[in-house]
Amino acid sequence: MRKLLVSLLLLGPGLAAAADISGSWYFERTFNNRKFEEYYVFKADGNKFTGRALSTRGRQEIVNGVIDGNQITFEVKNWDPSRPNTAYKGELNGDELRFVPAAPPRGNRQPPETVLKRTSTSTEFNPPDSLKALLPQHKHLGPIQPIKPNGLALTPPMGWNSWNKFHRNITDKIVREVADAMVSSGMRDAGYIYLNIDDTWEGGRDANGNITTNEKFPDMKALADYVHSKGLKIGIYSGPGRATCQGLEASYMHEEQDAKTFAAWGMDYLKYDWCSASAVYDADEMPGAYQKMALALRKTGRPIVYSLCQYGWLNVGEWGAAAGGNLWRTTGDISDRWESMSNIGFNQMGREKYAGPGHWNDPDMLEIGNGGMTTDEYKTHMSLWCILAAPLLAGNDVRNMTKETIDILTNKEVIAIDQDKLGKQGTRAKQDGELEIWTKPLADGATAVGLFNRSAASAKMTARWSELGIAKQPKSVRDLWQHKDLDAAAEYTVEVPSHGVVMLRVK
Ligand code: GLA
Repeated sequence: MRKLLVSLLLLGPGLAAAADISGSWYFERTFNNRKFEEYYVFKADGNKFTGRALSTRGRQEIVNGVIDGNQITFEVKNWDPSRPNTAYKGELNGDELRFVPAAPPRGNRQPPETVLKRTSTSTEFNPPDSLKALLPQHKHLGPIQPIKPNGLALTPPMGWNSWNKFHRNITDKIVREVADAMVSSGMRDAGYIYLNIDDTWEGGRDANGNITTNEKFPDMKALADYVHSKGLKIGIYSGPGRATCQGLEASYMHEEQDAKTFAAWGMDYLKYDWCSASAVYDADEMPGAYQKMALALRKTGRPIVYSLCQYGWLNVGEWGAAAGGNLWRTTGDISDRWESMSNIGFNQMGREKYAGPGHWNDPDMLEIGNGGMTTDEYKTHMSLWCILAAPLLAGNDVRNMTKETIDILTNKEVIAIDQDKLGKQGTRAKQDGELEIWTKPLADGATAVGLFNRSAASAKMTARWSELGIAKQPKSVRDLWQHKDLDAAAEYTVEVPSHGVVMLRVK
């Protein structure tokens, strides 16, 4: 009687007596021949409850749970505290608990239902052995102490990466052919030095825990030797989690061992991709997880450019360099479409303060030559990335390039803007609807000016130097795509094609 009174008093207004949710719960399903397990512990306090979960997806915290009769609602905490939680709703019937996302389904797709069974009344967090292996094995990482720059990437890294064109199909043979083509096409001599192998080179670990390659890469050391013999450098890919984005072996709890392996193979560049790492690290550990590998790379004694790939989360510009990074992605993945490229490229304002010699914002790799954009759009892609002082990692099949593609990628005057020693990231100086003028200060006192027309029709654009913070009467104005000096007047008016660019150097 007393218990009932107490629980009635604890109930909020209008809530029915709560069914008891406290205890341990379990759910399992098989999908594509793989078993997925979920384990939950809930603790009720009157009509309120909280909980913890562990599943193949990782750990989750459950907050703001409410029981009203047998109806329940709760939220799963977002891994990133700056992003909203996900709400769920469901029903509790004895030892069965069903729930679905509370948000209305997108399109016709019914949200997947979770059906938990109560396995005991214990509220101790004690996951089954099959899931225990997924718990983090490290001691929670504290805040980082900034480490000194490694002295590399004093200008934005230039090279090639396998992902945008070859995805999972990259092989040793293709990398060798690409190395040959980098030389014969003039790409190497234009500055594209790093040849970076992205995800899907990985095999499992051997008996000593050393990472191995899969059948597509029979001998990584021999491949690196070959690439080096062409006057190029070579890069590789891993991540701080247990698995890469393609579900292959990553470096969790093997950081020093993998760094040693990469150095022994002769690697000069590492792209370190977050992917599944949220399953083992809390958000506040992300800088530490990145610094762990930075320190491991330093320990090898080999100069290795360190590229952070975590999609710009958690304001990476604030800590990327302190963690030991030479560059860090600022966005999700680019694709070979105007909308994707232009949305990324024109939305980099505000990050310029983080860029400088040795540490760069990375708006992702180039799509130039992959076929999804027009020549004008690819020129915009190249010009914008150079004004942004972005890393220039070609992502096309350089074995097979049209003359137009080669001309865009190897335009030395445009590349010189990207590689300028001052290392300033350019910014938007003027905007008139879909017409934008971006400028980038250069080491010799000149300014790079990009006149971009994002609209669907060709447009007349005028650049007035005084309005752009440039001397009223410049000594020289040069068009970097036409390779032509223009009259050095107080302003310049030009017809810019739809989605196109006019790129100038004004001194
Ligand atoms: C993520 C990265 C991409 C690429 C893939 C590979 O999506 O952002 O650049 O490395 O993983 O799996």
